[in-house]
Amino acid sequence: MEIHPLTGSLGAEVIGADIKDPKQFDEIKRAFAQYSVITLRGQNITPEEHLAFARRWGDINVNRFFKALDGHPEVAVVLKEADQTGAIGEVWHTDHAYDQVPALGSILHAIETPAYGGDTVFCGMSAAYDALSDRFKQLLNGLIAWHSSRHVFGATQSKSDASQTGRVGNADIATQDALHPVVIKHPLSGRLGLFVNPQFTTRIDGLSPEESDAILNMLYVHCQKPEFQCRVNWQAGDVTMWDNRATWHKAINDYHGHRRYMHRVTVEGVPLTAA
Ligand code: SIN
Repeated sequence: MEIHPLTGSLGAEVIGADIKDPKQFDEIKRAFAQYSVITLRGQNITPEEHLAFARRWGDINVNRFFKALDGHPEVAVVLKEADQTGAIGEVWHTDHAYDQVPALGSILHAIETPAYGGDTVFCGMSAAYDALSDRFKQLLNGLIAWHSSRHVFGATQSKSDASQTGRVGNADIATQDALHPVVIKHPLSGRLGLFVNPQFTTRIDGLSPEESDAILNMLYVHCQKPEFQCRVNWQAGDVTMWDNRATWHKAINDYHGHRRYMHRVTVEGVPLTAA
């Protein structure tokens, strides 16, 4: 297989791999640990093969809010029909940050892609952390922050296009709140990185709302610098796997009038440790 880095911060395109082949798993895992986002081109897998690849990484973390694929409760459907307006995942986020043990990673398989657009953009949380000043790193190390699903998937969100069209649901079980270190030591790479994100992080514990907002908003502006990003342009059949402990991502909703259809499987992680 050929592995081509996408940027200097994160992301790689993998050509010629076959995720169905267990003998290739170690090389794929090494690429994942190094690049945090890997796009494995041309996989064309069934839902069963998608799940079999995911299980090589660990147990499946079933998403409680996305519509599941018929007959496959562990496979979440990520869909925007040509006549729908809202995409799933348009705000910068880290999947399952609201869980007590956040997911290791997510594996997204493109079934149908729009004629143009519909990319996914990623930010690297280690590159963003490394670029902060030493004094600011000292301030962040040791802080912990709250993450929640309530304000995103709960009752107040039931008017969103994704909710109105049945693509997300279960507002009544959006009750997860979790505390995680603001700076984590990555379980695979050992690198330090930020673990706060604009969608699910609600506040830094122990600070006033003004202090927490000031620090989080400063970090969010900092993390969105193009220098820390890579962008995946999809073809049907591609599989992209990203590390939820090392990245943010965002779906670009720029293909109105076209259909985009994906399957996502998310893998359980391990408890996060502070820097
Ligand atoms: C997601 O946030 O998991 C979906 C990303 C995408 O559709 O590009």
